[in-house]
This record gives sequence, structure tokens and C-alpha cells, in this order.
Amino acid sequence: METIILAAGKGTRMKSKLPKVLHKVGGKPMLQHVIDAAKSAGSTREIVVIGNGAELVQQSFNNVEFVLQAEQLGTGHAVLCTKEKFANSNDTILVLCGDTPLFTGELLKNFVDKHIKSKAAATVLTAEMPDATGYGRIIREDDGTFRKIVEHKDANSYERQISEVNAGVYCFDAKKLFGALSQVKNENAQGEYYLPDVLTILKNDSEKINAVIADDYKQTLGINSRVQLAAADKILRQRKNIALMESGVTIIDPASTFVDCDVEVGQDTVIYPNTYLEGNTKIGENCTLGPNSRFENMIVGDNVQAQFCYCHDAEICNNVILGPYVHIRPGSKIFDKVKIGNFVEVKNSNIGEGSKLPHLQYIGDTDMGAGCNMGCGTITVNYDGKKKHRTTIGDNVFVGCNSNLIAPVTLEDGAYIAAGSTINKTVPKDNLAIARSRQTNISNWNDKRKQE
Ligand code: UD1
Ligand code: CA
Repeated sequence: METIILAAGKGTRMKSKLPKVLHKVGGKPMLQHVIDAAKSAGSTREIVVIGNGAELVQQSFNNVEFVLQAEQLGTGHAVLCTKEKFANSNDTILVLCGDTPLFTGELLKNFVDKHIKSKAAATVLTAEMPDATGYGRIIREDDGTFRKIVEHKDANSYERQISEVNAGVYCFDAKKLFGALSQVKNENAQGEYYLPDVLTILKNDSEKINAVIADDYKQTLGINSRVQLAAADKILRQRKNIALMESGVTIIDPASTFVDCDVEVGQDTVIYPNTYLEGNTKIGENCTLGPNSRFENMIVGDNVQAQFCYCHDAEICNNVILGPYVHIRPGSKIFDKVKIGNFVEVKNSNIGEGSKLPHLQYIGDTDMGAGCNMGCGTITVNYDGKKKHRTTIGDNVFVGCNSNLIAPVTLEDGAYIAAGSTINKTVPKDNLAIARSRQTNISNWNDKRKQE
């Protein structure tokens, strides 16, 4: 089985500069969902028809082939553009639209199996839609067999009352598909070559056409507008939350928990409200995440607690406590048993096992060993106005409150930094460094002032 995915349209109703199929639902472009579903249904080859924003679309996807439809003359014309790819093919062709991202591989596989078993020339997937506006309507004969599809814009008032719609998913015998496509005309309300007309042409050639109703109409929802985009997004997130809960994750409030489709979460992790798990994120077991936290492209180990945090493009190992109000920025690795809390920012740094950054620190471009304690207000001064420099901190280093570490600088193992120091030279192993002006007390100073 090979798949053609139609994705050349402009998506006028989206009112967007971005090609429609690149708009994200469930955290990834809608076309990616369609490609993934086709592959998981057993498709061996995916040919994506592109046109509007072709270059951008082409750059965004791997492991598929592209065919250019230079002018968008309709869904039938779009399929016709792939004809050369199927020269002499006797394969079954599955046709999908790039703007229907809710199909599961399972539904598509069942659909293709039904088509193959029935030996029909073509099979179309249909759905009973609560609001059929905009969809093509399925017209059946009195005996219930398929007669034709009428587009919403071409439908009369009687036809518009029909709630069974074309889901935009078809299976064809390759030869019969391309034979019929060349006969499709564009005499309709939109002046387009409609793919559904192939079904009528084949039927008139006495070929067998099946119209199979999907069990779950929600999988067939198409996205033409931003309102439909939000509706699809909600469905995908609900689906993801249910899958996570069924696999042993506690979600306190699914309605306010936003997990992208490809995110993995381990058993017995608890997710509090207003938490976002996005992109390529993998969370371990027994974690407590949120409330009010966002993890984007994060690898997180087991037993991590994080509340009120934003962490992106970084790694957190096991038994780490984060928050409240922590920002872990790209390129950071937080090793086991680290504690980072209360208004701390860490950027592009390694924080060694068991080290503590309890409050009000900026640690950037730093390699910190194990068992360190950063006093409140510790700042790595990593930027000289032109270049970033690294700070190297050994094991068991203690930095007193409100110290500046001017990079590049090294604090060797066991170094102690007196509070309020500004350090710009290496502190050797086990040394105490004091780098602040000495305190002077002036006796009776206030008495004199009162007399004046
Ligand atoms: C289409 C169907 C309709 C069905 C609905 C299901 C036709 C004529 N109508 O309508 O019966 O109920 O899908 O969601 O097929 N495309 C191209 N090239 C073109 C035109 C479209 O590649 O020249 C692509 C679009 O990018 C889109 C898909 O085909 O991904 C469907 O096109 P769209 O304009 O959204 O069709 P609908 O009006 O939704
Ligand atoms: Ca559509």
C-alpha cells in the first residue's frame, strides 16, 4: 500500500502566511500527523503533493517523496500530478488530505483492509458529522449503495441536510484511479477538478465503489480554519492525556494539562495543573511536575520534583528538586540530587551531583562539580560585552552570599569564597578567598554628627 497526501492548497480560510499543513496541532505540524498515521497503517511509500509554500513544506519533513502541483486546480488534479510515480503500478493507493490530522493508524489500516477484502475499485471513508458544513455530502442510492459525492458549494438545500460526509480518505486500485482521473471535468461551483468525481466515473463504468462509515467521526475532522485548528488540538491533547493516564500517570486536571503527542512520561509521575510538556520531551517515573510549569525538549530522569519552572533543551537527572521559579536554559545538565530553587536561572551549565543553588542565582556557562553550595545571590559574570566565558567550579566549593565570579575563572575543589567577594583569579584547592574591601568602623561618629 502506498499513500498520496494532498498538501498543495493554500488554506485560504486559515488567513495565515504559514502554509496550512505546517500549522501545529498536538505539538507537531498537521501534515506530520498524517504522515505518521499512514506509516503506522502499513504504508510503504508516501508521496506528498505540495504547491503553496512548497519549499518550506519540503524542508519540514523527512522520509517522504514530494510532487509539485504548480497550480492548485483541485484535489483531482493534485492526485493526477503523481501519475508518473505510479506508472504500471497495480498497488493499492491510499489518498489522504494533509489537513485531516486526527486519524489513527489503526483506523486507516482497518479501512484499507476492508477495501482490499471487498475487491472494490475504490472505497471512500465517510462520517456522520454533527455539523457537516463545508464537507462533501455522500449521496446514496435507495438500496444504500454509493451514488456520488456533492461538494457543499455545489449542493442543493436537500443535499445540504445530509449529515454523512466525505472524510477525504480513499483507497484506489492504482490503474483504475489514473484512468478515471483523466476524465474528471471542472464544471462545478469552484471550477476545480474534484477527486471525488473519480468515484462517479468508476461507478458509471460499472466498477464497485464502497462507502465505509467511520466509527468515530472525530477522527475525520478536517482543519480549514483556526477554530477547527483549536478543536483538533483539543481532541489530540485529550487523547494524549487519556493514553498517559491509562499507562499509569496521574493528571490532576486533564483540562489544564497540555502534553504534545510525542512526549513520554513514566509511571506514577503526577502532573499538576497548568503544565506543558512539549516537543521531544521525556519524563521519567515518580516525578511531580507543576503546577504552572513548562518543559520543552527536555530529558528528565526519575523522582524529579518541579513546580513553577520553565525548562528547555536541557537534561535533568534523578532525584532533583526544582522551583519554585526556576529557569533551566538550553545546554544545561543537572546531575542527581541537585536542588535548585527560588528564582534561579541556569544556562549552558553542568551542575554536579548534590550541589545546591537554593535562591537567587545566575549560573551561566559553568561547569560545577558535586556537593557545592552557592550562597544567595551568587552570579557568574560570564559576558564581557563581547564574548562569553566559562566558570569552572570543583567539588565541595562553598560560595558566600552575593559573590560575583568573573569568568574565565576557576574555583578549585574545596574552595571557600567569603560573602560579598568579586572573584577574578583562580582560587586554589581548599583556600579561602576574600575579595572585598575591609570594613572600617569610625568610633563615636554619630555622637559628633548629633552635636553639629
Ligand atoms: C475536501 C473534499 C470534500 C471532503 C473534505 C474532507 C474535494 C473536492 N472535496 O474538501 O468532499 O468532505 O475534503 O476534509 O476533494 N489540495 C491540493 N491541491 C488542490 C486542492 C487541494 O493539494 O488543488 C489539498 C489541500 O491542501 C488539502 C486537501 O487537498 O490538504 C483538501 O483540500 P481542501 O480545499 O481543504 O478541500 P475541502 O474543501 O476540505
Ligand atoms: Ca479541507
